[in-house]
Amino acid sequence: MYKIAVIPGDGIGKEVMEATLHVLDASDIEFEYIFTDAGDEYAKKTGIPLPQETIDIVKQSKACLFGAAGETAADVIVKLRRELDLYVNLRPVKAYPGIKSVPDNIDFVIVRENTEGLYSGIEEYIKDGATAVRIITNQASERICRYAFEYAKKTGRKKVTAVHKANVLKKTDGIFKDNFYKVAQDFTIETDDKYVDATAMFLITNPNMFDIIVTTNLFGDILSDEGAGLVGGLGLIPSANIGENQGLFEPVHGSAPNIAGKGIANPSAMILSAVMMLDYLDENKEARKLEKALITVLNDKKVVTMDLGGNATTMEMAAEIKAKYIEE
Ligand code: NAI
Ligand code: MG
Repeated sequence: MYKIAVIPGDGIGKEVMEATLHVLDASDIEFEYIFTDAGDEYAKKTGIPLPQETIDIVKQSKACLFGAAGETAADVIVKLRRELDLYVNLRPVKAYPGIKSVPDNIDFVIVRENTEGLYSGIEEYIKDGATAVRIITNQASERICRYAFEYAKKTGRKKVTAVHKANVLKKTDGIFKDNFYKVAQDFTIETDDKYVDATAMFLITNPNMFDIIVTTNLFGDILSDEGAGLVGGLGLIPSANIGENQGLFEPVHGSAPNIAGKGIANPSAMILSAVMMLDYLDENKEARKLEKALITVLNDKKVVTMDLGGNATTMEMAAEIKAKYIEE
């Protein structure tokens, strides 16, 4: 029995969460869900987007499923990452059937440092503009690189590439790169490193040269959206935020006010976030079963949502995935 904090949030966050919990009902694993609030709607009622109670509930849970927030997203999800020290942002870039991707067998993972770098939040006005402080520490660089190698080992991936700009950012990215090669000595996994600008190009021209990319906060943010673009469609892209004691799993998309309330959101990104949660809990067999059920439904193309060219509702697609999941 796993204690799971559930934050549906706003807009389609609530709809894809309902769909995902409906599918997870068919799992062999038992979950105890603790529903809790955050986001625009909650802020409208109380004036606070992320109450302390929600932070405490997430802290006391093994994992958290997060739908989406609206305009308060920065105050909710960015704050949760910081409060819980969720130092890894894991973004698989994988081509699933039913979406266009070039080439069609893309499958790599971006491991992004989630706590420092240019997102340290230290900005200051100066006489004619402003400055932002880019903090890179040995401690954070070491632990994110170690996570990337451990993750490669655990998932059978063959190569880890460090992405940086150490030729210009000599001190900060010098530290990141040094830590990468220091940690690499503890593993027998192929390594290389690339400049971030060249990486942006190679992701388009030769994405299959990558297996795992490990990089700093801003570079990881930008490259992972580029990766999402490669495998098309926000409705299909999950993510994980992982710390020493917790994992928080969320679709990459937001609350999508343009389609909220219509029951037509694609539940796949949230369901794939649940697959990542199952892997995090070391329930790998169950994760593969759920992923396979989803792939079958995407392949059949009969009961899929509008963004995938079908006319199913969110809950119809979820019910179809649940039926296949039970068959697995
Ligand atoms: P969005 O991801 O909500 O929507 C972008 C576009 O993709 C829209 O056309 C939407 O209909 C479509 N889309 C997104 N998810 C879909 C799904 N599951 N199925 C089908 N179509 C889908 O991003 P947008 O419009 O930039 O932001 C809307 C709100 O969401 C904003 O208030 C923003 O702050 C918030 N947001 C929250 C995030 C979070 O909670 N992690 C992340 C991104 C945005
Ligand atoms: Mg982003």
